[in-house]
Amino acid sequence: MSLWRRHGFGNALLPDRRRPARDWSPPDPPPPASSPPGLPPPDPSLPGWSLPLLLDLLPHPVVALAPGRLVRHANGAAQALLGDALPALLRHPILVQALDRLDGASVESVDLAMDVPVRRVLRVALRADRRAGSGLVLLSLSDRTEQDAVERMRADFVANASHELRTPLASLIGFIETLQGPAADDAPARVRFLAIMEAQAARMARLIDNLLSLSRIQMHEHRRPDGSVPPAPLLRRVADAHEPQLRAAGSTLAVDIADGLPPMAADPDQLAQVLHNLLDNAIKYARGPARIVLRAEAAQAGSGPSQGGVVLSVSDDGPGIAPQHLPRLTERFYRADDGPGARTGSGLGLAIVKHIVGRHGGRLSIESTPGQGTCVSVWLPVRPHGT
Ligand SMILES: Nc1ncnc2c1ncn2[C@@H]1O[C@H](COP(=O)(O)OP(=O)(O)OP(=O)(O)O)[C@@H](O)[C@H]1O
Ligand SMILES: [Mg+2]
Repeated sequence: MSLWRRHGFGNALLPDRRRPARDWSPPDPPPPASSPPGLPPPDPSLPGWSLPLLLDLLPHPVVALAPGRLVRHANGAAQALLGDALPALLRHPILVQALDRLDGASVESVDLAMDVPVRRVLRVALRADRRAGSGLVLLSLSDRTEQDAVERMRADFVANASHELRTPLASLIGFIETLQGPAADDAPARVRFLAIMEAQAARMARLIDNLLSLSRIQMHEHRRPDGSVPPAPLLRRVADAHEPQLRAAGSTLAVDIADGLPPMAADPDQLAQVLHNLLDNAIKYARGPARIVLRAEAAQAGSGPSQGGVVLSVSDDGPGIAPQHLPRLTERFYRADDGPGARTGSGLGLAIVKHIVGRHGGRLSIESTPGQGTCVSVWLPVRPHGT
């Protein structure tokens, strides 16, 4: 006898049209099963009709509850999804309330979060068998953790971007009001304020440029770049472009390019942006004259996802980054400290680097020792011979 019938549920799992249109209570004998036109009548003696087997055939996670909310069966997909968290799910206050409400109504859907062992968001659709005495409830589960994280990230992103823009904007509005009112005839104050306003406006423009470039990169992230970029000219061009910034900071830059490197499979503009962002950080966060090295070398065996490749790196002997920040540096808007350099940054530079490296099928690694310096390396694939 199947588990299903042993617990008095008759053939409640069969589609509605197979059931007689009357109340069904456990002591009644099961009605003769009818089949959809064209199909042979189901044979109740076949093991294929047992509840666990039918539920296990479903690709979707499903849990069947008997009267008293006892678990009759959790199918394979539900066990894979929940592991040993099924009792915790059944005790979850939102699910308990939904089960209480279920009497009478036959369908309800609730979203709930389970925080242990890891945060998960589940949508549970509850369906009760309406017939008196059956007491059957089917819980159909879907894992919405990823969707929930994406929705929260999108909301955080909009909140962060607005916040980052609001600060310089508020300062600009403040200075404009001061120049129109109390400082209208104060020439030295006007010169000072205009310089600050220029810096704030430049910061807003930089933030918007970074946001636009991030979204452009993400738009093409699924398409591998088809360019071929020899390392030496790229590194020299980027190093030259940073000359004025290096001079202003009193820092030095050494460019070290290994001989005979093959061209990288890359988009030249995006790769230049990677190096610009890394050099900008090395100069900006050194807080004083620093020694910076921009290097290109052949990858050591095992340093990348495939054989060969080129490693580009920017290292500095600046203050370094505390280890607790390292895993979060590539998050959008994340800044490791609020020192003088951080106040001018938007926290998007390394997020852009991460997305560009991802698009190239490369690897990004950030190593830093507080008090000694930081080295950011990017492994990139090389263009195969003859392509
Ligand atoms: N070479 C470095 N030395 C010390 N700290 C660094 C270095 N590079 C990055 N950081 C830290 O990592 C944080 C994130 O860097 P990221 O480049 O993403 O943003 P940002 O420089 O603040 O702003 P943006 O690059 O958008 O102008 C920085 O705020 C800084 O605290
Ligand atoms: Mg930066």
